[in-house]
Amino acid sequence: MPGAKQASPLERARDLREQIEDANYRYHALDDPAIADAEYDRLFRELVQLEEAHPELVTPDSPTQRVGAAASSDFPPYPHAVPMLSLGNAFDEDDLRAFDARVTKLAGTAGHAYVCELKIDGLAISLRYEGGALGSAGTRGDGMVGETVTPNIRTIRAIPSRLRGASPPAALDVRGEVYLAKSDFAKLNAARAAAGATAFANPRNAASGGLRQKDPRLTAQRRLSFFAYAVGAFEGASVRPAGQLELLDYLRELGLPVNRNVERCATVEEMLAFCRRWEAERESLDYEIDGVVIKVDDLALQAKLGYAGREPRWAIAFKFRAQEARTKLRSIEVNVSRSGKLNPYALLEPVSIGGVTVKMATLHNEADIVRKDIRAGDTVIVHRAGDVIPYVVGPVLELRPKGTRVYKVPDVCPVCHSPVDRPEDDVFSYCTNARCPAQVRERIRHYCSRGAMDIEGVGDALADLLVDNGLCADVADLYDLTLAELAALPRMGEKSAQNVLDAIEGSKTRGLARLLAALNIRYVGGQNATLLAGGFGSIDAIAAASAEELSAVPGIGPQIAESVAFFFKAKQNRAVVERLKKHGVDTTAPLRPKAAVGPLAGKTLVLTGTLPSLTREAATELIVAAGGKVSGSVSKKTAYVIAGEEAGTKLAKAEQLGIPILDEGGLRALLDAQ
Ligand code: IVH
Repeated sequence: MPGAKQASPLERARDLREQIEDANYRYHALDDPAIADAEYDRLFRELVQLEEAHPELVTPDSPTQRVGAAASSDFPPYPHAVPMLSLGNAFDEDDLRAFDARVTKLAGTAGHAYVCELKIDGLAISLRYEGGALGSAGTRGDGMVGETVTPNIRTIRAIPSRLRGASPPAALDVRGEVYLAKSDFAKLNAARAAAGATAFANPRNAASGGLRQKDPRLTAQRRLSFFAYAVGAFEGASVRPAGQLELLDYLRELGLPVNRNVERCATVEEMLAFCRRWEAERESLDYEIDGVVIKVDDLALQAKLGYAGREPRWAIAFKFRAQEARTKLRSIEVNVSRSGKLNPYALLEPVSIGGVTVKMATLHNEADIVRKDIRAGDTVIVHRAGDVIPYVVGPVLELRPKGTRVYKVPDVCPVCHSPVDRPEDDVFSYCTNARCPAQVRERIRHYCSRGAMDIEGVGDALADLLVDNGLCADVADLYDLTLAELAALPRMGEKSAQNVLDAIEGSKTRGLARLLAALNIRYVGGQNATLLAGGFGSIDAIAAASAEELSAVPGIGPQIAESVAFFFKAKQNRAVVERLKKHGVDTTAPLRPKAAVGPLAGKTLVLTGTLPSLTREAATELIVAAGGKVSGSVSKKTAYVIAGEEAGTKLAKAEQLGIPILDEGGLRALLDAQ
């Protein structure tokens, strides 16, 4: 802080300890974290460094000298026969090299292998099996004594009450992580929102809260899961694994869930590649991970290396870059979508998250802002993961300045000032004016965009100018534009005006599927437009069809059918279509032959991610032509999931349900079968 008096190392150490202890208490005892993980790590690292530079400052009760918060008295103490220790952290390649160099030096030989495992972001648990039966279970606590949570643990279906196999060990402590799957977390929060309860900030908090319920029936409702990754006490076994990888196999054979995403690595380069790969792909998993745990494979070598204080010398946690940061919420703005939906978003003081500067974030919806009581001026926690749009998790209430005001849901459209509609059971408001300039602008932008009519030259800026200058009130107006009108617009010479006219002319032959996708019909994107176009052959046939007739097309569900019928019922939409036809826009498509036979007859497929050479529409065409159906969501009835680059939650769902996953090559092989 400029001008601030420099604190002495002693003062700084005290200050850091206090902040860390406070954060520990909030995180472990209250399940209500006050600071983001990255901030905690930073404070902890600073304290470690300070204590390294000034060993005389280390106190027995420093947070660096223990593992977590002390056990609360609500649950009986659970002493650990073998302590549950913590791990040192690595943040970059240099830290990994230093770890490897240390292991090599202490081992006295080079060439030992490591096992890389995902670092599951949940809660460490120790399960005691005696004679193969689950006898008790406890949390980590301070590493020596945790809390007994046996009845709650027994509710977790992933945890076997009996080990499999003929001769289980006489006594075995299984160590692992209790966690809540992302999909279960989403369901839990949705149910809480419906019941008017506050949402959990993340799956970890929800899992931790679930495990510490006094009534195990409440734990059961959380649908917690478990992964085993280590052992504590281990007595009277007929076989003893010699390495960590073998130990994981052994645990799996005993019937425990063990994560399959593990790899044996010989070099730092291989470990680093594993860490980077999973840092990039963490979103594709249905559970949260916050890093990679790297362990020496050879268990004898592990024993030889031993511990330094509370941390093993044979393992380290490679921590991913944080996905959350705190910043100031400057203001709450509202954007009006092409359907009139009011989308609130946050203007933020710029903050770097995972190496990217974030200035804006979504606020989901009005109901969410009100429920979380997010206010302009608040310090907020912002989450940014992969390519997903950053979002505001919630306010940090302790840091709320004086004079902030409760967010007021707009009762008129912020753009056209028409009244807004707030349908019951909906968390959004809608501008009721179909001619609202914001809606019109978004509709024209969409009509001209790549996946739609692809009118090159009419980008977002020109679409805005056309609307603002009164030249376009609907998409059909594009075809009435004249050279003189366009050339008179700012930054538009006659030559570029002519190019725009040519591009508009060129859009007339895109065909029915593209046109349908461009018309802003709810739920109709490229895939559904392709199905409808092939099923009916002309826009007139679609406009004349009832919802029932529309849903007879394979792949078109009742919700989509209703939406299409609703669109064509509206007079102004029919008028736009008539004018498009008059201008010579092609509103037809070749009728798809009804393929009740073919290699995919009777099969439903789901597409996810980007395929190397096929667009969604092209893949849909091929599948339907082969007698198959394409659906938007994965269920037990799905025959195959075709996954490309950046496949998302559908892939995770498929993995969960054990549905075969194919790439483009696999799809082509299916199509060529017979
Ligand atoms: S091994 C002595 N393996 O990370 C080493 N820990 O900061 C014991 N964790 O307390 C831990 N996934 O709660 C290990 N595959 C994994 C893990 C894992 C998550 C957690 C665990 C531990 C913490 C260490």
